[in-house]
Amino acid sequence: MARTSPITTATDGGAGGPARPPAASDIADPGLALAGQPGIAWAGRSMPVLGMLKSAFAEQQPFAGLKVAACLHVTAETAVLVQTLTAGGAQVYLAASNPLSTQDDIAAALAAEPGVTVQARSGVDRARYYEHIHRVLDCGPDLVMDDGCDLVNTLHEERPELLRGVRGGCEATSSGAARLRRMAAAGSLRFPVVAADASATRRMIDHEYGTGQSVLDGILRATNTLIAGKTVVVAGFGPCGSGVAERARGLGAQVIVTEVDPVRALGAFMQGFRVLPMAAAAPLGELFITATGSVAVVGRAELAVLRDGAILANAGHFDVEIDVPVLDELARQVNPGVRPHADEYVLADGRRLILLAEGRVVNLVAAEGNPPAVMDTSFAIQALALAWLAAAGSAATAVHEVPAEIDAQVASMTLASLGTRIDTLTAAQQRYLESWRQGS
Ligand SMILES: NC(=O)c1ccc[n+]([C@@H]2O[C@H](COP(=O)([O-])OP(=O)(O)OC[C@H]3O[C@@H](n4cnc5c(N)ncnc54)[C@H](O)[C@@H]3O)[C@@H](O)[C@H]2O)c1
Repeated sequence: MARTSPITTATDGGAGGPARPPAASDIADPGLALAGQPGIAWAGRSMPVLGMLKSAFAEQQPFAGLKVAACLHVTAETAVLVQTLTAGGAQVYLAASNPLSTQDDIAAALAAEPGVTVQARSGVDRARYYEHIHRVLDCGPDLVMDDGCDLVNTLHEERPELLRGVRGGCEATSSGAARLRRMAAAGSLRFPVVAADASATRRMIDHEYGTGQSVLDGILRATNTLIAGKTVVVAGFGPCGSGVAERARGLGAQVIVTEVDPVRALGAFMQGFRVLPMAAAAPLGELFITATGSVAVVGRAELAVLRDGAILANAGHFDVEIDVPVLDELARQVNPGVRPHADEYVLADGRRLILLAEGRVVNLVAAEGNPPAVMDTSFAIQALALAWLAAAGSAATAVHEVPAEIDAQVASMTLASLGTRIDTLTAAQQRYLESWRQGS
């Protein structure tokens, strides 16, 4: 690795050549551009770390002449990230990483900015979703930013002629990083990728606190249900599940945790949660929240025993954790949109189950995702990781952890933005900690 301080780095020009001419923006309504601007400005006010990076990037131009193909949720916070990258000299080609989370006014506002094209319309089908990914890849990217690995996977599987020009990429989410690690293990990965998700700062701020809060926010907006006194089953006790479980408990729920990892399960137990297998939790729960990154966690067996009125919500990246095809099959009748983002499934035995956000990420579909203050930290890590890749040149083709220096740098900048100072080691403390001779 050449260096870990991208802010001080200058780069040469872009290497990738377009296989096809880059496409113009494909957005729902360019007339929404003005309507999108206040939302971006509002988010920017709570994103001081990206603001600091934007100034530094503007001065040092770490992305001068580079094309960045990005597949991210098209939200106001992402717009602030895109502006940070373009300030650093990047041309950004943005597609949506989830059609349901696209905010059409934000897409329009971004598409009107210099150096940005946007391929994103709310609610497009799967074919258009992948068409949009291809349209951003048409630029012949030097760098990629992904959230779920669909762009990187499409690049490897369907556009291999573009791989040679790619210096590296940055993946936002744990499910995407897991796919990348499987690609790397199979020898299929062709450029270095930083798994931004594995950063300690990010897992704490984004997953634990951000997702923990916004998932409950999405469920409350979709249902207006009372959480206090409810039996809430949280599947998966990673940082996301742990944050969700803690916040549900804070609102007065009786929380049951299901896990497959004994260490995580023990952690949940020691924090005072009831830990049960899903088969035992299924008949007890009134609200189910999946956050596992796995498939059919609420599947046929669970659906058969859920209580009448049970609410099903997914916080995991992909819409596979609640087995919606089986739910469709079991339903005698579906009443879509009993409330916004809430569909009622009436089963053959008369039970009514409520599925939120069609089984997709509930905090992004039914609410606004993580608050801007949370995305500030996450996106700062991704922006610095991308600058590090742009500068590193010699990074090995592998899935990299976020360099520790970037983690510490973003944590320090976030603390500074919060007006919080911390101690530094004295010279004597430093010597003591480095010595093996000195004991009591
Ligand atoms: N909604 C959001 O805004 C948001 C934000 C970040 C991450 N995510 C996604 O949320 C999911 C979880 O993220 P994380 O960082 O907590 O991941 P993680 O991998 O650290 O934790 C997932 C946990 O689920 C457990 N698990 C796996 N299969 C299970 C099963 N069948 N039953 C019970 N537990 C099971 C694992 O043992 C693990 O402890 C991922 O899909 C991630 O991409 C969503």
